[in-house]
Amino acid sequence: MTQLQTVKKAAAFISKKTKNFKPEIALITGSGLANCVPELKNKTVIPYAQIPGFLRSTVAGHSGNLIFGEYKNKKIAVMQGRFHYYEGHPMKDIAIAIRTLWMLGVKTLLVSAAVGSLNLKLKPGSLCVLKDHINFMANNPLIGNYDPAFGPMFCDLTDTYDKDIRKTVLSIAKKNKINALEGVYFAATGPNFETPAEIKAFKILGADVVGMSTVPEVLAARPLGMKICGLSWVTNMGCGISKKPLSHKETLEETKKIEGKFAKILQDLLPKL
Ligand code: HPA
Repeated sequence: MTQLQTVKKAAAFISKKTKNFKPEIALITGSGLANCVPELKNKTVIPYAQIPGFLRSTVAGHSGNLIFGEYKNKKIAVMQGRFHYYEGHPMKDIAIAIRTLWMLGVKTLLVSAAVGSLNLKLKPGSLCVLKDHINFMANNPLIGNYDPAFGPMFCDLTDTYDKDIRKTVLSIAKKNKINALEGVYFAATGPNFETPAEIKAFKILGADVVGMSTVPEVLAARPLGMKICGLSWVTNMGCGISKKPLSHKETLEETKKIEGKFAKILQDLLPKL
């Protein structure tokens, strides 16, 4: 089966379950961030495992559901839990969920993630609003996965992260006294955290934050013409900047402290999109 056929099948299955609900905005929630989504009206929850062709998420803190519903008259889809390259999924399959959401009608994609920070102005608890990224995964979901239905092969990535949404997020953060800055996301494969030497190198290359997700999803979404906003929450300083050893447990604990802030941003942001 081609990926286009897989995506059509998944979209048809979902449309039937949701009685033809057409989401405009999709939100991908990163490690432990799923609880920040405001309560949606007329909600439908579909476990990934039920959707034909969908991958399954295998990481602690990533539940694995697609949720559809309305918030202040906006039609929203939430990916509660995401698919990471480090789980062993083929990179091109990470595009399936994004392309399915697009086929259902999604025009705007919010991608949240927990990240390590390389920028001393972005301490744990801060929000990095992405203005660009560096793909250091040595792979890409678009490779060997071309179908003109999913946009141009040679996709331009200027202004991938929507300028207007960035401005809106920064002003909402300011109003809520949340430390937020624009920055560059550095995508590493994981699953190990980086070495101190890598963190130093990535900083020299121009990165502000480092994470193990976001970029594959953004690369799938961009040729589809989606407006994209990357919301990276700092859970720790990069290895070697902080003297503490890093752990996923710590990421999840720090995320707990971020939940309230992210919820506030979403409550204000979603109606403005
Ligand atoms: N590195 C990569 N990914 C992360 C980190 C980190 O330090 N913290 C949370 N996600």
